Amino acid sequence: MTTTHSTKRDLLTFDDLSAQEIRRLFQRTAHLKKARNAGRNEPTLQGRTLGMIFEKPSTRTRVSFETGMFQLGGQALFLSSQEIQLGRGETLSDSARVLSRYVDGIMVRTFGHDKVTTMAQYATVPVINGLSDDFHPCQVLADLFTFEEHRGALDGKKVAWIGDGNNMANSWIQAAAKLGFHLVVACPIHYEPDDALLARAQQEAIATGGSIQVVRAPIDAAIDADLICTDTWTSMGQESEQLRRQRAFADYCVDQALMYAARPEALFMHCLPAHRGEEVTDEVLDGPQSVVWDEAENRLHVQKAILEWLMGVAI
Ligand code: CP
Ligand code: NVA
Repeated sequence: MTTTHSTKRDLLTFDDLSAQEIRRLFQRTAHLKKARNAGRNEPTLQGRTLGMIFEKPSTRTRVSFETGMFQLGGQALFLSSQEIQLGRGETLSDSARVLSRYVDGIMVRTFGHDKVTTMAQYATVPVINGLSDDFHPCQVLADLFTFEEHRGALDGKKVAWIGDGNNMANSWIQAAAKLGFHLVVACPIHYEPDDALLARAQQEAIATGGSIQVVRAPIDAAIDADLICTDTWTSMGQESEQLRRQRAFADYCVDQALMYAARPEALFMHCLPAHRGEEVTDEVLDGPQSVVWDEAENRLHVQKAILEWLMGVAI
């Protein structure tokens, strides 16, 4: 079965989705989750193949995309960059063109975001960003869905991001602008999100009723928040900076005292893997406000909806 290339779409960042499309994806996600939990798999992608290129490690992304394709009646190929010619210098553009002759979609997890855009430019099949140094849209889509499952619409809600202005923070910033909620990012000096990205999102948020603010003190972000999110202090590829980062982020641990500053019904999220005792305490991660396992599960359901959408099944 072939994918209709003339309508090829990609999911590299939130710029590739309209708010309306996100709503439709979430409706489909809810349906797919219910079906799965009732023991039903719908083979909407029978005969389709997803190629998954990994230049960084992964548990959730790999397993959720692979099982997701399987549950939809298709298959997924795990392509470690070390074991394909990409790792020996075959260019991304050539690899994208070759893979497009075999597979119906490509998921890529890599370092520089430019690699994801190059892949999308040369691939004639849809490309999905499974995490780059700058963005992690699939995770934030799963997180948004998880919040709404527990607490209803995000419109007008306050989300606190505590820690690094990293790939996850960037995708949250884009999401706040697109869906119109209030995001307050608390990060240490030198670890703020990208200025240009922030300015663009702040401009876009004017039309959607959202807002994005950067503050220094975690408490200023956490106060009255409906959701508190954090992530590792040292992302993949930054291992040589670990000691410096541990010092810079020492005051950015989400503990129970910080959770108390939020609204009583506030949720806690972490995309995982967590570094217990660093960015979050055991008490919070394992506590009643934490929905981290739901976030991980929802990667599966949201990505199945994304795969159907990008591979040409109407949603
Ligand atoms: N959250 C996330 O993307 O996890 P993995 O690195 O395990 O894929
Ligand atoms: N910011 C983290 C997310 C891991 C899923 C990283 O890039 O390593």
